[in-house]
Amino acid sequence: MIKCFTLLVGLLLVNVPPVASNSRSFSVDWDNDRFLKDGKPFTYQSGGMHYFRVPHQYWSDRMNKIKLAGMNTLQTYISWNSHEQVEGEFNFEGDNDIAEYLSLAQSHGLNVVLRPGPYICAEWTFGGLPYWLLNKPGMEVRIYNKPYVEAIAKWFDVLFPIIKPFLYENGGPIITVQVENEYGAYGPDVCDKKYLQFLLDLNKKYFGENPVYFTMDNTSDKRLECGAIPGLLKALDFGPGNEPAQELKMLRKFQAHGPFINGEYWAGWFDKWGGRHANRSATKVAKSFDEMLQLNASVNFYMFHGGTNFGYTNGAMSGKPGSYNVRVTSYDYNSPLSEAGDTTDKYFAIRNVMSKYVELPPGPVPPNSPKWKSSVDIQMKTQISLFDNLEQFSTCVETKLPSLMEHFNQSDGFILYQLQWSGPLQNISLYGVHDRATVFVDRQKIGSVNRMDFLNGSLILPIELSNQLNLKPDQGYTITILVENLGRVNHGSYMAIDFKGITNMVLLDGENVNLEKWRVCPLPLNTVQPALQKVDNLRYPPSGSPFTPTIFCGSFRKLNGDDTFLDPRGWEKGMAYLNEVNLGRYWPTEGPQVTLYAPGVYFKQGENTVCLFEIETANPENTLVFTDVPILDKKKQGNSDDLVDF
Ligand SMILES: *[C@@H]1O[C@H](CO)[C@@H](O)[C@H](O)[C@H]1NC(C)=O
Ligand SMILES: *[C@@H]1O[C@H](CO)[C@@H](O)[C@H](O)[C@H]1NC(C)=O
Ligand SMILES: *[C@@H]1O[C@H](CO)[C@@H](O)[C@H](O)[C@H]1NC(C)=O
Ligand SMILES: *[C@@H]1O[C@H](CO)[C@@H](O)[C@H](O)[C@H]1NC(C)=O
Ligand SMILES: *[C@@H]1O[C@H](CO)[C@@H](O)[C@H](O)[C@H]1NC(C)=O
Repeated sequence: MIKCFTLLVGLLLVNVPPVASNSRSFSVDWDNDRFLKDGKPFTYQSGGMHYFRVPHQYWSDRMNKIKLAGMNTLQTYISWNSHEQVEGEFNFEGDNDIAEYLSLAQSHGLNVVLRPGPYICAEWTFGGLPYWLLNKPGMEVRIYNKPYVEAIAKWFDVLFPIIKPFLYENGGPIITVQVENEYGAYGPDVCDKKYLQFLLDLNKKYFGENPVYFTMDNTSDKRLECGAIPGLLKALDFGPGNEPAQELKMLRKFQAHGPFINGEYWAGWFDKWGGRHANRSATKVAKSFDEMLQLNASVNFYMFHGGTNFGYTNGAMSGKPGSYNVRVTSYDYNSPLSEAGDTTDKYFAIRNVMSKYVELPPGPVPPNSPKWKSSVDIQMKTQISLFDNLEQFSTCVETKLPSLMEHFNQSDGFILYQLQWSGPLQNISLYGVHDRATVFVDRQKIGSVNRMDFLNGSLILPIELSNQLNLKPDQGYTITILVENLGRVNHGSYMAIDFKGITNMVLLDGENVNLEKWRVCPLPLNTVQPALQKVDNLRYPPSGSPFTPTIFCGSFRKLNGDDTFLDPRGWEKGMAYLNEVNLGRYWPTEGPQVTLYAPGVYFKQGENTVCLFEIETANPENTLVFTDVPILDKKKQGNSDDLVDF
């Protein structure tokens, strides 16, 4: 049996297209408010899980658990920017292997609800769009704009032929396909029906007329009107705080007949830096789910398994200039399967509801996986000064401001701006920092500023230097501004103007110095490994000098493949790297996330390297540990928010 299964998966690994059969059909039975699958009434109960947030080695385990909860369907977005990081260069390998993901779902007996976007929101950087769109002249996203729709057409021309064999009618698992995503919520004045129709036509060009296409929106008049495409099925999204019967009534104002779908049933919620960890009651989630099932609804849990925003992939929110907040690295989402794939009370509460409606698949739910804990503190013996080794990490250029990250064809990470200056200096003011800057004069840190704290959309931070520094104006000094891209806006109309770096100007004592001779160093820092290999050439932080951004690395042994959590307490703000993998941002002083998920599959058997790029401050003696229990709900000092439970 096990052998057979392995063989099947093995075959699917080489993406043999599923065998088509004429008996397979999936359709909307409008008159009877339901779906028909092969002619029989059908509802789906679905688990949301994004392949791009879960190491591919774990896909099968998570699908098995979704299936064992009684779900018959899997829902996923497709994140364009994971597949086409560089324009025209496509990646469908490893965690990007969408064909393998769809095959695996099918081998687990799960149907698939596909959400190819291209805009997906998802708390994912730039809502799934590739940053390089921003470099195209005249670009406006999410409307019928020539450069935008042309880029989509090229992308779908690569993507859709891969997807097509997996449509239900072609023998695959995909039962429904979403067009755009929550379009009705895009900007107060945007409602571009030509754009929506263009997307639907493009879908049909590859997939034909038969698949069940749908749009999905939150229940408000504006949203349901604007997000809709005439004749297309509408799905809703709402959480346990909403009354399902009431939602259905709202839907019926816009769609008199058709199946009732909650395409995003919010079983949990996402977290932002400086906020609290979502905590949605399992009892309420289960109760409202039961009510929806009684109404014959098709329901997708958003998320059933959230996963992780590894590296720089988290999104951010900006309602208007001056309002900005950032999603944390974890996408645990307080969902039924935790970030590490463990079952929770919520999982069993949902499974319990399902058991009233379907016969649960046989077989016990697997026990939660063992977690590893490092037995000794890891010494961070290698310490590489960023400022003293810039040439190892960057190709710096001399140019004027504003010189944006996108100009350097850089998607994510950091960018450093340096200016030689002489003369008296009292204040440095930064305008339009996207998104966080740490400012130094010579090696002395002056301060850090977050876009979250901006006033009226521009950052005005007079920095009084005279008291802190003993400047010698006649000798000159170096002003260094390290800017971090904290994540591209993923929601609302401000996403299209979210360039990164210093987007406006720098004033020294009120004088605009944009046109001076700046040295600008793009620092993607996707990995620190190549630099580590040149360790003989690397310069350590000069002893006795104040702290400047430093890469700290330590090695340790691990002899099993267990998952674990990196605990950065004692460090302040930066990026964590495990061997070749960028685990994501850490910011334990801000919270609520403290520990970072470190999947077992990212470790080597034996010797491993962990590195932190620390921006703010650290004691050179600081050590690091891995722990066996995640901490995602630290309350920031002075934060009076209650735990989110609604
Ligand atoms: C859903 O729409 C309503 C407007 O009807 C809005 O107040 C609410 O914030 C929306 N919820 C979400 C999660 O977007
Ligand atoms: C979440 O809320 C539940 C009650 O609904 C409570 O028992 C639990 O302790 C809370 N979790 C956290 C992390 O505070
Ligand atoms: C749900 O479906 C069943 C079977 O088709 C039907 O008898 C029942 O009336 C439906 N319930 C609602 C609330 O639509
Ligand atoms: C960025 O990419 C474009 C298109 O490939 C290229 O023309 C341009 O020279 C690149 N710019 C830089 C600074 O590398
Ligand atoms: C520096 O900033 C302070 C506070 O905003 C202001 O009072 C002072 O005039 C500024 N000094 C210069 C030289 O711009």
